Amino acid sequence: MVREFDAIIFDLDGVICYTDEYHYRAWKAIADNNGIPFDHTINNRLRGVSRMASLEIILEKSACPFSDAEKEALAAQKNEIYKQLLSEMTPDDLPKEVKRTLDTLREKQYLLAIGSSSKNAPFILQQIGLGGYFDAVSDGNNITHSKPDPEVFLKAAQMLNVAPSRCLVVEDAVSGAQAAHVGGMKAACVGDASNEGAGDWNLQSVEELTEIL
Ligand code: BG6
Ligand code: MG
Repeated sequence: MVREFDAIIFDLDGVICYTDEYHYRAWKAIADNNGIPFDHTINNRLRGVSRMASLEIILEKSACPFSDAEKEALAAQKNEIYKQLLSEMTPDDLPKEVKRTLDTLREKQYLLAIGSSSKNAPFILQQIGLGGYFDAVSDGNNITHSKPDPEVFLKAAQMLNVAPSRCLVVEDAVSGAQAAHVGGMKAACVGDASNEGAGDWNLQSVEELTEIL
């Protein structure tokens, strides 16, 4: 079989592990404290976008304006709640089918990378036992524009020394699938992005990757 891809770039939150739910819980606490309506539908718009951009989306529903200093404080509070949830994660929070999929793709000699907007990505990877597993980690700490800008994926491709057209992105965020496409990459989607039909492949589970690769 002629291969279409040399590298697979995985989003982290909502693809490798379910930290997307922890983002929701932490933002929900902040929204409730400030009397701002927030639910899972609004949460889907936060997938893939940076912490401050997420806050701006949540504040669209706020009755009163917040100063820049107040916004910084809210984002910091959210991150403290989120990090507390992350600190309780263990390798048991890496779903078995995700680990099986990664190991199968590695056996098939694909290069494997992370492309995540999160500044907490290195800590999460440590917590779930994947510190040092990937060939490259591109995350919120090395980018200036978050998804749907393709920067995080293009940096991952650069770290791997693979052309964008030879990279497949795996995403649960519509913004992430858009970023892949703008960057000249194809996208395989799961979760919300799959439900929205945003990918070139729209999967029920990450494990279906082993059938298409
Ligand atoms: C992405 C999430 O992976 O990371 C977003 O999908 C989140 O919801 C973004 O806002 C930034 O995360 P962090 O951990 O840097 O606040
Ligand atoms: Mg995600």
